[in-house]
Amino acid sequence: MRIEYLADHVSHLPRLAQWHFAEFGYLNPANTLDRYVERLTAALQKSDLPTTFIALDGDSLLGSASLVRRTITHPHLSPWLSSVYVDPPHRGRGIASALVGRVERAAAGMSLDRIYLFTPSSEKLYAGLGWELIEYSHHHDLKIAIMSKGLAR
Ligand SMILES: CC(C)(COP(=O)(O)OP(=O)(O)OC[C@H]1O[C@@H](n2cnc3c(N)ncnc32)[C@H](O)[C@@H]1OP(=O)(O)O)[C@@H](O)C(=O)NCCC(=O)NCCS
Repeated sequence: MRIEYLADHVSHLPRLAQWHFAEFGYLNPANTLDRYVERLTAALQKSDLPTTFIALDGDSLLGSASLVRRTITHPHLSPWLSSVYVDPPHRGRGIASALVGRVERAAAGMSLDRIYLFTPSSEKLYAGLGWELIEYSHHHDLKIAIMSKGLAR
């Protein structure tokens, strides 16, 4: 398994957009598959935000994680780890952990001091990776944990 920039594997963008739309589309009723394609297209870069990493085995797409400026909540905080997703058959093998670590290193490499995330369901995963809970919040009726991690330069 290796982690690379989506920018270097544009052919995986349509499948990734489908995964993201199916998994995260419920967060905003205005979301469409096209909007996920647009978002990932905007992340086809390596040295600025937004950017997206993908996990690969050979040429098979396994998962992704993004580093973005803004998300659906807490507009005063930035940047955000976003859209952490692993294809179901490949879960439980540390792929998400590796993707999160890669996003953290990318943020540190951009001289960012701290990174944020929100999660409705995976607080324990991130706590195990050194992320700290800031607070619980709500997005519509969904309870979310806002978490943060300081980045070593
Ligand atoms: C959550 C998700 C990304 C985890 O991917 P993964 O590759 O299976 O995660 P890892 O193998 O790196 O798991 C690392 C650790 O976190 C734990 N973990 C993983 N997902 C978890 C969850 N949802 N809740 C609690 N613990 C979790 C694992 O058991 C593992 O623990 P261990 O180190 O003690 O064995 C994956 O299940 C997924 O894509 N889910 C749907 C999308 C989603 O919910 N994304 C997160 C949005 S914030």
